[in-house]
Amino acid sequence: MGVKRIGVLTSGGDSPGMNAAIRAVARCAIYHGLEVYGIKRGFAGLLNEEIEPMTSLSVGGIINRGGTILRSARCEEFKTPEGLLKGAAILDKYGIDALAIIGGDGSMRGGVELSRICPVKVMGLPGTIDNDIPGTDYSIGFDTAVNTALEAIDKVRDTAYSHDRVFVIEVMGRHKGFIALEVGLAGGAEAILIPEVPYDLANLLDKLRESYEHGKRSSIIVVAEGAARAEDVKKFLQEHTPYHLRALVLGHMQRGGSPTAFDRVLATQLGVFAIQRLLEGHTNEMVGVEGGRLVAVPIEYIHTASKTIDLRKLEVASMMAI
Ligand code: F6P
Repeated sequence: MGVKRIGVLTSGGDSPGMNAAIRAVARCAIYHGLEVYGIKRGFAGLLNEEIEPMTSLSVGGIINRGGTILRSARCEEFKTPEGLLKGAAILDKYGIDALAIIGGDGSMRGGVELSRICPVKVMGLPGTIDNDIPGTDYSIGFDTAVNTALEAIDKVRDTAYSHDRVFVIEVMGRHKGFIALEVGLAGGAEAILIPEVPYDLANLLDKLRESYEHGKRSSIIVVAEGAARAEDVKKFLQEHTPYHLRALVLGHMQRGGSPTAFDRVLATQLGVFAIQRLLEGHTNEMVGVEGGRLVAVPIEYIHTASKTIDLRKLEVASMMAI
């Protein structure tokens, strides 16, 4: 049976470009004659029936806005069998036969669970600043987050230089070091700590001492939150070096702000592609981009695979840090 009415929701941590994705899903669906419903606050809003029709006008003026106009939430009830059954019944009540889910792997899993107990078709769009979803080179929001963190690091470097200081800067990335690696390389960090690579603070110390002896008085160390806490690294180094150290946690500022052109274009292309895949009859897929081409992978795949980081970039970064 063809798709007639699609629901769109954002779930999990927000990321810049989610609005551009909502807009693209809604406008492409309307272009193809479908009806569109916006489901607020993710699966929590589905269970509370916070569901409203969307028009091409209601998604106007949002392509440049960070966050998500549909809001986002975590929902424990939805993870229970009763919650799932309730969600399926509400989809049936509203005649929603397809869902576009913008978020991380957990959000897409929720869609797959629903599709097991009701005839809804599901298409996922990767939305997280962490860029840790397999099946796509980029997730919506990563590029903006990297540029936001980079702007902050560039500013901190000015102070680091002026005051002969070492700054340990913690960026987001609970499980993976994509943001840390990218921003560390772009910001000329003297060291980058990521969860994928075991590190030894004693080695870092040696490196710092060496560069101090070479006359380098300021440095930037970028740490992914999943690898270490900036404060702990700072304390350890402070005990053993003559440097003046400071720790800085960039935190949630990395999730906000107006999306970059890259994220807007990515989100728009993925939104349109998601609708095309649904209209062709596909379901339980995530759309993404690999090697510059739009791709679709089974959502199951993203739950079994793990996205690997390009460790050559880490080597390049350390080559630049001499
Ligand atoms: O969006 C993912 C992420 O940015 C992680 O890197 C971070 O650990 C997490 O969100 C924090 O999110 P919250 O404060 O919403 O739990």
